Amino acid sequence: MRKRILVINGPNLGRLGKREPEIYGSTTLQELEERLIEYGNSKDTDVICFQSNHEGRIIDRLEKAVDEEVSGCILNAAALTHTSVALLDAVKSCNIPTVELHISNIHKREEFRKKSITAPACVASISGMGLHGYEYALDFLIKQS
Ligand code: DQA
Repeated sequence: MRKRILVINGPNLGRLGKREPEIYGSTTLQELEERLIEYGNSKDTDVICFQSNHEGRIIDRLEKAVDEEVSGCILNAAALTHTSVALLDAVKSCNIPTVELHISNIHKREEFRKKSITAPACVASISGMGLHGYEYALDFLIKQS
């Protein structure tokens, strides 16, 4: 059976490619998602992509993923990483192996970005590998499932 992996991008990542390109690069979210879907296909895996600026919608999407029997999730919760207890609880309750991902190295930036509220619910974290991090996370989750 084909594996299924969910990629969630949180607030402001819809503006990838235009938003602070010196930090996040010039690739758009659409280009990133197309690349991940293609990469997944080459590994017999369906990659489902979702972006929202809204905490509740991200939690709804995670809950739906439980019914879809998704085998793993890549979560770039963006700023919600540093603030959202609701998202921490959602990741815990869904029980889907989740890799926390940050394009930038959150430990080399402002103090408030160094703390991740959601990381304790995740199986691994990737930070500072740019967009390549998504492919590394996919590889990891595919091997795990
Ligand atoms: C980010 C890092 C967060 O601190 C920030 O709020 C983002 C993006 C990253 O991918 O590097 O929006 O998650």
